[in-house]
Amino acid sequence: MLKKINHIGIAVNSLDEALPFYRDNLGMALEGIEEVAGQQVRVAMLEIGESKIELLEPTAPDSPVARFLEKNGSGIHHIAYEVEDIEAAIARLEGEGARMIDRTPRSGAHGALIAFIHPKSSNGVLTELCQAAH
Ligand code: CO
Repeated sequence: MLKKINHIGIAVNSLDEALPFYRDNLGMALEGIEEVAGQQVRVAMLEIGESKIELLEPTAPDSPVARFLEKNGSGIHHIAYEVEDIEAAIARLEGEGARMIDRTPRSGAHGALIAFIHPKSSNGVLTELCQAAH
């Protein structure tokens, strides 16, 4: 069902402050920065082999990522696994009793379809399913 780790999401207070470390010190290629209105975040995608690092900066003070930062500070926010068919993956997980935050896919960065699994079903790790745009 899963193809690979597509990306790891890291919550940061400021992309401007966080980016130089990943781009300049670690030498990752910046793929682009885009705003994902549905998630109230500005996202910077950095390439690392066939996976990515997704830096998430909140765009609203009451957004989920802003609340995460308030509670935990910056750090790992979620892990995203790539799937071929996200609707089939959701149906299978729900059929096996997993709790989904998103029961239907929604739009993520770069035209991907995404759905989050509730951390209660994934050992406390917020987990994203991600079907890349073809
Ligand atoms: Co993500």
